[in-house]
Amino acid sequence: MQYNHRMTLSWYHTASIYQIYPRSFYDSNGDGIGDIQGIIQKLDYIHDLGFDAIWISPFFSSPQSDFGYDISDYTDISPDYGTMRDALQLMDEVHRRGMHLVFDMVMNHTSSEHVWFKESRSSRNNPKADWYLWRDKPNNWNSMTGGSGWHYAPERDQYYWASFLPFQPDLNYRNPEVKKAMLDIVRFWLGKGVDGFRLDIFNVIYKDAEFRDNPFSFKFMPTEDDPSGFFQEAKHTINLPESFEFAKELRATCDEFGERILLGEVSGNKSIVRKFLGDETNNGLGLVFDFEMLNFKFSAEYFRGLIERIEKHFPNPFMPVYVFSNHDRRRTIYRLNQDVRKAKLLAMLQLTVRGVPCMYYGEEIGMTDLPLPFSTALDPIPHKFKFIPRFIFDLLGLTINRDEVRTPMQWDATENAGFSSANEAWLPVHPNYDKVNVEGQSRENHSLLNTVRVLNKSATMKRPCGKVRWNYWMTFQMECLGIRENLRMKQCLSC
Ligand code: NOJ
Repeated sequence: MQYNHRMTLSWYHTASIYQIYPRSFYDSNGDGIGDIQGIIQKLDYIHDLGFDAIWISPFFSSPQSDFGYDISDYTDISPDYGTMRDALQLMDEVHRRGMHLVFDMVMNHTSSEHVWFKESRSSRNNPKADWYLWRDKPNNWNSMTGGSGWHYAPERDQYYWASFLPFQPDLNYRNPEVKKAMLDIVRFWLGKGVDGFRLDIFNVIYKDAEFRDNPFSFKFMPTEDDPSGFFQEAKHTINLPESFEFAKELRATCDEFGERILLGEVSGNKSIVRKFLGDETNNGLGLVFDFEMLNFKFSAEYFRGLIERIEKHFPNPFMPVYVFSNHDRRRTIYRLNQDVRKAKLLAMLQLTVRGVPCMYYGEEIGMTDLPLPFSTALDPIPHKFKFIPRFIFDLLGLTINRDEVRTPMQWDATENAGFSSANEAWLPVHPNYDKVNVEGQSRENHSLLNTVRVLNKSATMKRPCGKVRWNYWMTFQMECLGIRENLRMKQCLSC
């Protein structure tokens, strides 16, 4: 029977999403840092590429120790990026073009510079004393970045818990006041018209109420299907049942405002991440990332298996998300040894498979990683690992220095790749910008950019209504040349 998904699915189930790392997208005021006005100036470009929604990494007030993933005021904008007025103008401009705007909501932790945390750490009996997770003695829990996640605060002679880095203390969602405060922030932005949120490390939002030790595990490296690692099973720190329940509560809050997207950054095996989507009616988060594919292997067999696994776990009314890179992981073409033909093929898969494609800025032109030394990194992560030789991470395929995948957008072949008129951009521009840039690829008929544009804009190709015969399709396309001619024949094989 033909299933008419357009009648039953939410807008975000049929959308294609473009991710912007605002610091690196476009600098409108010449200070070397991308900003909101810069994004506004480039909205026509994104619209013309056929994207329906834009997810922007955080631009709220922040000391920028983790470049915005450490928020010190959720209802204010960092002067690095602009003002509240700019943010509201951005919303209007996005909507005027018929697109949707998705903010990045870091609910799990605040910055240690947030007034809530400053108050909480000041004593054991202040009104916010219980807004974060405090203990007299650390238990054995490891943070997601390795090592104990407990950090000493002399003011209280106690330790606070941080799932990620020490300056990102976790909020205590078992305290109803905290939950209310965060839901009020969500309502604040929904009230202003934002179309929803990408939810940062949502799977660690609840931790064990009794702080029980995590069991021992032989596993050292956390993997996409199992976040346990560093010799412990993440039983009491990640993917707790309370987090699945909270997803529903958050969804109900968003539903007060109509159809708004909640896109969870969660990890674990597919049946676990599926739990964040709620019951059979999909009454939890609207979408979740499934990060298995960030480590894809480029073979027809791998993708056939991936799609089969995804179709099994995310059938209607659920919708999978297809994402191959982001601001934390290697860029696609870097994994593909700079092979543009393979990048076109992957774009074709991403933009036509049943699912929501989520594309990181610059992927559409094949921007690649820029190897940079750990010692001078702006990203805090490499400093934690600077005594380990780099080749070990390279062998493991790990991106430790995330600066390498956050270099400025390559708009054209002029100074700073047309990203900024400053003498120096906040991160170096990739030296290949004279060859890999938007302006050049716009003029080339068969460029990656134009392939992405054609695929993404073609409504019938975008979200096929069912399963494509991947094995046949992939083999057929493996050569990848003349890609656009072949497309017409291959669309919607199952309908
Ligand atoms: C995941 C984000 O993608 C990453 O960039 C950030 O550093 C951590 N969460 C901590 O918020």
